Amino acid sequence: MKKISFIVYTFIIYPLFVFSFAQQQYDAKIDELLSKMTLDEKIGQLVQIVGVDKDEENLIREGKVGSILIGIRGAKESNRIQKIAVEETRLGIPLLFANDIIHGYNTIFPIPLAEASSWNPTLVRKACEIAAFEAASAGTHWTYAPMVDIARDPRWGRIMEGAGEDPYLGSVMAAARVKGFQGDDLKDKTKIAACAKHYVAYGGAEGGRDYNTVDISDRTLRSVYLPPFYAAVKSGAASIMSAFNDLNGIPASANYYTLTQILRNEWEWDGVVISDYNSIGELVNHRFAKDKKEAALKSFTAGVDIDMVGDTIDGNVYSPNLKNLVEEGLITEEQINKSVRNVLRMKFKLGLFENPYIDTEYFKKNVPSQKYKDSVALQLARESIVLLKNENNLLPLKKEIKSIAVIGPLADSPNDMLGSWSAAGKPEDAVTVVEGIRNLLGEKIKVNYAKGCGINDSDTSGFEEAVKIVKQSDAVVFVAGESREMIGEAASKTNLNLPGVQEKLIKKIYEVCYAAHSTNQAFSQSAIPLVVVLMNGRPLTINWISENIPAIVEAWYLGNQAGNAVAQVLFGEFNPSGKLPVTFPRSTGQIPIYYYQKSTGRPAVDDEKYTSRYIDSPSTPLYPFGFGLSYTTFNYSDIRVDKPNISANDSLYVFVDVANMGNVDGEEVVQLYVQDEFASVTLPVKELKGFQKIKLKAGEKRTVSFRITSDMLSFLNAELKKVVEPGRFYVMIGGNSADLISTSFEVIQ
Ligand code: GLC
Repeated sequence: MKKISFIVYTFIIYPLFVFSFAQQQYDAKIDELLSKMTLDEKIGQLVQIVGVDKDEENLIREGKVGSILIGIRGAKESNRIQKIAVEETRLGIPLLFANDIIHGYNTIFPIPLAEASSWNPTLVRKACEIAAFEAASAGTHWTYAPMVDIARDPRWGRIMEGAGEDPYLGSVMAAARVKGFQGDDLKDKTKIAACAKHYVAYGGAEGGRDYNTVDISDRTLRSVYLPPFYAAVKSGAASIMSAFNDLNGIPASANYYTLTQILRNEWEWDGVVISDYNSIGELVNHRFAKDKKEAALKSFTAGVDIDMVGDTIDGNVYSPNLKNLVEEGLITEEQINKSVRNVLRMKFKLGLFENPYIDTEYFKKNVPSQKYKDSVALQLARESIVLLKNENNLLPLKKEIKSIAVIGPLADSPNDMLGSWSAAGKPEDAVTVVEGIRNLLGEKIKVNYAKGCGINDSDTSGFEEAVKIVKQSDAVVFVAGESREMIGEAASKTNLNLPGVQEKLIKKIYEVCYAAHSTNQAFSQSAIPLVVVLMNGRPLTINWISENIPAIVEAWYLGNQAGNAVAQVLFGEFNPSGKLPVTFPRSTGQIPIYYYQKSTGRPAVDDEKYTSRYIDSPSTPLYPFGFGLSYTTFNYSDIRVDKPNISANDSLYVFVDVANMGNVDGEEVVQLYVQDEFASVTLPVKELKGFQKIKLKAGEKRTVSFRITSDMLSFLNAELKKVVEPGRFYVMIGGNSADLISTSFEVIQ
């Protein structure tokens, strides 16, 4: 008994005491500082500017700025600006320097949607740790990441920035990223404050059109869009960014229900809420505020602490207006104090009052080697690659081939490898597919490269050269997709086909490689193997390619190590293990399409008329959530539970045998889905509740177990209360959301 109390005291009670003491310690210092601050200085802490010209330096001197969207100006410039705040203002309150470090600072990792395809939160956390180190050494205290918006509409360009469609996977990735950026102590010089964004439901924009209206039920808000934010908050996220979108009639940046009722009252979170870029000023465009003064009143009283940048033509919204609102008695100084406390607390947590300047000597002595950083970037890139098709085991390509044609507008385009939001990343540091193959095979193989066509134009003049090199080669890799400008913010699309004439060229090359040789759909040995590698930040409706091309690799935008990772997968140095974090539709007409849809009263059966189907398309997606192939195959068998029934607050174990049936080692993401057979509200046909990424040697078989807890069986009832209802539950396990084996158990009263 004594041992347990020692453990409980040492690892639970004492840390909690220290944590609460630290909080009180901060609160005492904050109160002392507040007591000295003028109203202007307090409001200054709630204002963020983006530039630092002479006028803005004077604003800093007057104590009218609390933080700066600093960009990639570097440590020297950060220290110069910080010196103004610390040494030339009345109270010397240090500034916060913020930046968008979404998937790397100097070392660029795969885009977040690609990282989610790895289903490896430990590796994703490592990448965020490296990003934090590089950003901190360059003078950034605060990143506007992770973006945790659930996205079920690939027309929305920002789907690339998050972890896809699933609330559970999204929550796991949100927690990993927050911990990666922040670590366990923000005073650690190599850590930076995270900012979960965009709060909330920004990914639910109607029509997938960026900044568009979001109108969803409270049930959908709480069961789909909020969970990743809750995971971020529970992981200690220092800040949250309010979104641009209207949410059920109240813009997210002025929504008391989400910003205060949920975030502060229900979740008891005491971090900083910052608006998105002028999202407060845009309340006027929403026609929700008649002018910027009313916008300031509505955002501030709803719970937004900091005004990001505001409309720089007229200056920030908070800076001129909050003081007037206090003087008119519409806002109290105590309300101002509450927000200022949140900001000062964040600065204390970051240790800025003790160490306001970047300690460049420290970073010089403690920098992780570039070799290490590149190794993490390469491993994450490799694990982010999803093998979508591999007919007749065309892949991996044989290393003995003497020549290879590498074609396509993204085959040798370093800038596109970095994807959107690439911070201080440099195209010259990105390895393209052409370079990756040369790095891997050197002189052993002749790489014939032809761009063939542009990404998004109608010029076919390059086709001839492309066809010519195909005829001179033993294999063909066509690298197709979107440019980095076609994805990310303000990049919504109505058409998800390959842009330009890329597919036209692929068809022409296909003719050269196969049609002349094939006696039937099975490709004759004399055919020239043709692989399509996709580089994109959203699902694409690649129906013809999916139907006709024997091997398809989803490579997203993989960052600096893109080409090395692709080459190592193509030639079998690495056995792909990625799984899709988002559903690939057959057409935009199917959108929204995601795996956790509901049964409906007439479940879709494609050849039955009066069911929830389309008459012009299968109701299934092109590729389902969680899908991804390997160079081996995995067999699932003998799923079983250790108890036939449990009470509502009990737990049980489910077991399944997974066997590697092939002759190469491989990794498999074993996915666990749950279905409540009947419930008091309609529920999804299945929901991801767990996963394990396992390595199996060729021929190896292993029993994998999951603990099923009551939390995994709970849902929001008609009163939006979290409940577990008695009845039968199905647990389904497999390598993707559509191919599962199942068993069941009962929850009894
Ligand atoms: C942008 C984005 C947001 C980003 C901010 C600062 O408009 O919506 O994600 O962090 O502005 O760059």
